[in-house]
Amino acid sequence: ASHMGDDLEKVLFTEDQIRERLAELGEEIWRDYEGKDLLLVGVLKGAILVMADLMRTLPGSVPMDWMAVSSYGSGTKSSGVVRILKDLDTDISGKHVLIVEDIIDSGLTLSWIRSNLESREPASVEICTLLRKPDAAKVEIDCKYVGFEIPNEFVVGYGLDFDEQYRNLREIGTLAPHVYS
Ligand code: PRP
Ligand code: MN
Ligand code: MG
Repeated sequence: ASHMGDDLEKVLFTEDQIRERLAELGEEIWRDYEGKDLLLVGVLKGAILVMADLMRTLPGSVPMDWMAVSSYGSGTKSSGVVRILKDLDTDISGKHVLIVEDIIDSGLTLSWIRSNLESREPASVEICTLLRKPDAAKVEIDCKYVGFEIPNEFVVGYGLDFDEQYRNLREIGTLAPHVYS
């Protein structure tokens, strides 16, 4: 393993910027869900760091659950095919579900997950994503909490991978061309 920093072309968001934005979203979420039975649902694996840091901005106890779906192969393009690899452990009927994601790219993954969860009769389903690429959208998604909107570039770090690498990078950035070749 070589130094990850050398593989970045540019840093889009530093650790501090991510932490500050998540704190703002956490405040909003805490206010909006006051007195409600909230369940955070993370999407493996990209959302692990967003979940870890977002939930720790919340001042009270909140449960979480996880889903794993396959939508991408090992490359950088969405296949549009969604399959459940790991379902939720809990029954979400009557609960206020907040899906936690790292990025909305084409939107195909989340639109599928959202309608799948909505069919289980929760009290509500909303989405919180750290990143969103408006120019890459193939389907419209109503997303209540968005950290940052970014241009249509492939980004890694902070949970986001390229072929399973770079998830442990503390910042978010674009990869240098030499990494692809
Ligand atoms: C990535 C990302 C989102 C999804 C967004 O996950 O974490 O879940 O793709 O893409 P879309 O909006 O075009 O559907 P990926 O399938 O790569 O799995 P991972 O989270 O395990 O990296
Ligand atoms: Mn993902
Ligand atoms: Mg991925």
